[in-house]
Amino acid sequence: MNNHPLRELIKNTDLMANIANTYGTPSYIYVKDRIDHNVGRLENALASHFNRHHICYAIKANSNPNLLKVMKTALPNLGGDCSSPGEIFAAEWAGISPEDCIYTGNFESEEDLAFALERGCFLNLDDETSFDRLMHIGTPKRVSFRLNPGFGKGTFSQITTAGENAKFGIPAEKIILAYQKAKDAGIKTFGLQCMAGSGNLDQSYFVELLTAIVRHTKKIETELAIRFEFISMGGGLGIPYKDEEIPLNYDRLFLDLSEVLYANYENQETAPALWIEPGKSIVADAGFILTKVTGLKESYKNFVGLDAGMETLMRPALYGAHHRMFKIGDHGEHNGTYDFTGPICENTDRIAVKRNFPKVNEGDLIAIMDAGAYGFAMSHNFNTRPRAAEVLLDGDSHQLIRRRESIEDIFANCHV
Ligand code: LLP
Repeated sequence: MNNHPLRELIKNTDLMANIANTYGTPSYIYVKDRIDHNVGRLENALASHFNRHHICYAIKANSNPNLLKVMKTALPNLGGDCSSPGEIFAAEWAGISPEDCIYTGNFESEEDLAFALERGCFLNLDDETSFDRLMHIGTPKRVSFRLNPGFGKGTFSQITTAGENAKFGIPAEKIILAYQKAKDAGIKTFGLQCMAGSGNLDQSYFVELLTAIVRHTKKIETELAIRFEFISMGGGLGIPYKDEEIPLNYDRLFLDLSEVLYANYENQETAPALWIEPGKSIVADAGFILTKVTGLKESYKNFVGLDAGMETLMRPALYGAHHRMFKIGDHGEHNGTYDFTGPICENTDRIAVKRNFPKVNEGDLIAIMDAGAYGFAMSHNFNTRPRAAEVLLDGDSHQLIRRRESIEDIFANCHV
């Protein structure tokens, strides 16, 4: 917890207590300054090395429209990566034009394709058969396909989205047929997308990935006499979830990537634009969960019970993901080893396992860090628990950006 970007903020015991008293716990807290910083850092590094580039924030990471508006204000030409009609809806609500968005589905239904087409998103299709389904609805002016280059990389196998075990994208040897079909249908504007995994901190992996992508785009362009408007490398830029992990150096990364692209496309004006679809790298470290200790148990292990369990944050239960935690108001020695769990009737309910931590008492507040991405977005109602509140913190002032769900909300659509 020594080098976390929100370390000083979390030390503000009065502010944390005030937020907990005002909105209750568990609550997701998002720090506006950190979102601004993350957006600015990415845009500046990209702009230094690519004349033509575009950032499509991956709305699946966190779709709160208020946060999308914060990002759009920080970067007025921000686009979105949408994976459902709901995410297109959130983008539009925040003032992000669907025309600036890329739509990437998976086993896309005709209904979903029709929604994205009608709104004018850049359609990125997951398979040649997706194109056939699309043609039942209409012909877009522009299209891209998702490449599965035969390898991918993610923090966990579950979030590796390319390679032989992945359900996403079109194998390299088949993708040319998809573009052939699209060309035959009269489409003239093309992109190529490749999202091969999430949470990477290894610079050389991105270089390897773009090298493979460019090999394929060159081949397709030559064989079909088409030109790619853009290459989207998807998301995948990791953040350190642990003290010892080293953040990516964006300036170095985009310099290396520009060398790969421009070695193959010498005229920078006509080279494909580089698009990225960052999720984690924009919101993960800007958000944390404020939770309260509800009970302590000495069993075969020592347990700390929290009011946030796997229904509030799925990542530890689902992937064994590590989230740093911080006791509010005490920066003392770690003097015990605990499993942190929630109230859920399932033994996978863990926020942390065998974690060294200072002594805590019932009622203490704890911050679960790096929960801004895939935190609230993947939270759910198991055990009929209402979802947490979401709060935006701007300096010392705070504002509710999604009220806590009520039990009535959970049952709002039921008929008895
Ligand atoms: N673009 C596409 C098409 C994606 O599928 C994703 C994430 C992204 C962009 C953004 O990737 P990021 O920059 O966040 O790595 N729930 C998992 C992550 C799954 C990522 C799925 N796709 C987690 O909590 O780690």
